[in-house]
Amino acid sequence: MVRNILIAAAAFALLAGGASAQNEPKGDAKAGATHFQKLGCYSCHGIWGQGTLRDGPRLNPPMPYPALLAQVRTPRYEMPPYTESQISDQAVADIYAYLASIPKAPDPKSIKLLQ
Ligand code: HEC
Repeated sequence: MVRNILIAAAAFALLAGGASAQNEPKGDAKAGATHFQKLGCYSCHGIWGQGTLRDGPRLNPPMPYPALLAQVRTPRYEMPPYTESQISDQAVADIYAYLASIPKAPDPKSIKLLQ
């Protein structure tokens, strides 16, 4: 519980500090797709970040970059942590760009076969 509060506080500090986004690396969606596969994110979160029933939640659309970075470095629960030497801040920004580039799922009401 205390840990969650600390993480929430850290995420808030990051968000507040990053509001002007000066230090936020610019991501490359194509490179992000490669990282997402090579680093194994897809194995728990699905190739499109759609989430899997058993292992990891949906990631698209992504949470803001600072929160995503915080989750990758210090995951809240069962996800394995990744250090800077395993995955750079730039690579996390690329993954953010990749997840943000994935189109939203259509509204089920717009799918004829489901009516
Ligand atoms: C072994 C399975 C596994 C792998 C591999 C994995 N994750 Fe996760 N991820 C999880 C689980 C489980 C959660 C739920 C929160 C937790 O356990 O920390 C999660 C949560 C997240 C969240 C927060 C989602 C939310 O809505 O709260 C993000 C962002 C995320 N993962 C990104 C990544 C990225 C990027 C990678 C690759 C570098 C990755 N994950 C690799 C299992 C995994």
